[in-house]
Amino acid sequence: MAGILAGKAALVTGGASGIGQATALIMAREGARVAVADRTEDSAAATVAMINNAGGQAIAIGGDVANEADVAAMVARTVAAFGRIDCGFNNAGIGSRPGDVRTRTHEMSQEKFDNMLAINLRGVFLCMKHEIIAMLQSGGGAIVNTASVAGLIGLPTSAHYVASKHGVVGLTKTAAMEYAQDNIRVNCVNPGYIKTPMTDPFMAERFDALMTKVPMHRLGTADEIAEAVVWMLSDKASFMTGASHVIDGGYYAA
Ligand SMILES: NC(=O)c1ccc[n+]([C@@H]2O[C@H](COP(=O)([O-])OP(=O)(O)OC[C@H]3O[C@@H](n4cnc5c(N)ncnc54)[C@H](O)[C@@H]3O)[C@@H](O)[C@H]2O)c1
Repeated sequence: MAGILAGKAALVTGGASGIGQATALIMAREGARVAVADRTEDSAAATVAMINNAGGQAIAIGGDVANEADVAAMVARTVAAFGRIDCGFNNAGIGSRPGDVRTRTHEMSQEKFDNMLAINLRGVFLCMKHEIIAMLQSGGGAIVNTASVAGLIGLPTSAHYVASKHGVVGLTKTAAMEYAQDNIRVNCVNPGYIKTPMTDPFMAERFDALMTKVPMHRLGTADEIAEAVVWMLSDKASFMTGASHVIDGGYYAA
């Protein structure tokens, strides 16, 4: 298929849902072959079916991004299926869950903190590590990590999430510097409040209060993040590396 990712092979984590699913679909629309990874192969299958039914080419991969053996296998399966990996979208992540008790820093358990960091930060580190190993062998590539506006500001009662997303911004900047001479670009996207299954559970109760902080007074859509991510992964963004790309209806500017 023609498009800004024509001929490229891509891996998306968290591709079963929300921002990851939207990005996998737009990657395929723009010509990429897409490996859709999520916790289980079954959960990734619906996204793969949508791509294949539309005439694209995709495979489903199951695995936990917090586990290095699983991540190494995700990258190996992508390379086995498509011959290389040109684009990595390291997006799998968790937020607060329905029923979570909101705690300030002094009340937060080590377990709650460690669980968030294992998925949101170690997961991105492991994905970058194994994608970069493959990209060094094939001559280059582009990576986008999903951070958040919470990677740039503090959010009371979210120390674990904020720490994980600030960490993603730091990993992104460091890898951008380390691999600029290897034809590998590394950026992150920093969404504000986006309508996905992650935010649906608490929006009913908190929408009005949260929207007072967003100049556009609405949630973003997963497609509004995905379009930018696909562009950042394409050769159109050839001078962009180490950047945090905020997409948030004006929240961070306000
Ligand atoms: N929705 C928002 O408002 C918003 C804002 C800023 C940043 N983000 C970030 O965007 C990313 C995607 O979130 P979303 O809103 O699309 O949520 P989502 O819950 O719809 O999708 C997240 C996906 O990641 C997968 N996942 C979670 N843990 C995993 C693991 N250990 N291994 C493999 N897959 C795993 C889930 O199964 C799910 O399919 C996350 O990193 C999130 O922190 C979301």
